[in-house]
Amino acid sequence: MFVSNNLDINEKGNLTIGGIDTTELAAEYGTPLYVMDEAVIRESCQRFKNSIDKYYGGQGRVCYASKAFSCMEMCRVIADEGLGLEVVSAGEMYTAMKAGFPMEKIGFQGNNKTDEELELALEFGVGNIVVDNISELDRLEKLAAEKGKRPHIMFRIKPGIDAHTHAFIKTGQIDSKFGFALETGEAFDAVKRALSCKNVELAGLHCHIGSQIFDITPLEEAAEVMLGFIAKIKNELGYEVKGLNLGGGFGIKYVNSDDPKPFEMYMERVSAVVKSKCSELGLSQPFIYLEPGRSIAASAGITLYTVGARKVIPNIRTYISVDGGMADNPRYILYQSEYDAVVANKASEERSEKVTIAGKCCESGDLIGENMPLQHAEAGDILAVCATGAYNYSMSSNYNRLCKPAVVFVKDGKSRIAVKRETLDDIIRNDI
Ligand code: LLP
Repeated sequence: MFVSNNLDINEKGNLTIGGIDTTELAAEYGTPLYVMDEAVIRESCQRFKNSIDKYYGGQGRVCYASKAFSCMEMCRVIADEGLGLEVVSAGEMYTAMKAGFPMEKIGFQGNNKTDEELELALEFGVGNIVVDNISELDRLEKLAAEKGKRPHIMFRIKPGIDAHTHAFIKTGQIDSKFGFALETGEAFDAVKRALSCKNVELAGLHCHIGSQIFDITPLEEAAEVMLGFIAKIKNELGYEVKGLNLGGGFGIKYVNSDDPKPFEMYMERVSAVVKSKCSELGLSQPFIYLEPGRSIAASAGITLYTVGARKVIPNIRTYISVDGGMADNPRYILYQSEYDAVVANKASEERSEKVTIAGKCCESGDLIGENMPLQHAEAGDILAVCATGAYNYSMSSNYNRLCKPAVVFVKDGKSRIAVKRETLDDIIRNDI
């Protein structure tokens, strides 16, 4: 009935998440409110880990991509599940460090890392730095020498595979700001250069072809291309790269028409490709890294809003306005993303209308969605938007000087604040 199976309806007819009445959460913590179901996060972590155990003999590590949703409590949960972490900025690295995350299990990504960020990564001792371009390699080599460190690096490679997803979230093709191209010889030259560097150790290669991918075939193709490159390096330079990071990108169900494959199926198919390609090319099987973000966080989360204005424009559309919008969920205005929504206090009623859910920002495109089937919503109702656990809080802004909502975690029938709601004083805290 709902896109995520942790959502249900209780005897009062109200929507529940992880067994807790969402209208009570809204009353206790206020709206807009992000709610994360810890059991769903943990279950996804375990499914990823178990699939590596089952299909790849445990020779791999799952590193949660913290850009999907990062806060200290999330880092603690991920650490507790034994996963690694992928970070893309000093901010994400610092959040993890402050949460006590084991730094050696962190991979640091990014197409334009600053010297300050690289220094911080060296100081914190992150497990590997995924180098994106030659100037970064040169800067890192110099900084590592100055600090007397020898970090493990990986190279971000563009495998030249089309991921069949939204153009803004595709990254594997040659025309991408991320990584080294194979076709031009740039990637091979970078490997030669790294092998001559004294202060970095080439520990692996990395690729990530896009996000919200439903089709497993391009992910298999990317793995094949990467192994072909590892073989070329071995044959021509006599160096066998031991680590292969295959990125993230696994799609999730936002609306009922979405049909993501279970990630066990991904791991089964990609492991088979890796094993057969390795034996064909005479390579030892690499240690695999995966970097799922959305598929760990998205379905765990919902956003609760209070409905305000209801505006019926005859023969055109009905607008239902809520007390948040693009500042807490910019995904519709960026990608026309689809969501499922439900009136939490009328969850057992029929979805009798098709409405446009609008935010409160001064921007016509500030919508949560159009043509959304919904129960009859009126001022004061609580609206739940489903599967907002990834790329919502992490992409939120203070546009129109709105305060960022609180984040609440639910577990075993109890709720707790993970991130406090911003106050008006937070809005002006850096103003002089
Ligand atoms: N690894 C790398 C290097 C990445 O760039 C990303 C996502 C991931 C892992 C995690 O991908 P996931 O498993 O979450 O698909 N803001 C967009 C998504 C941008 C994804 C960027 N990179 C959205 O809201 O759809």
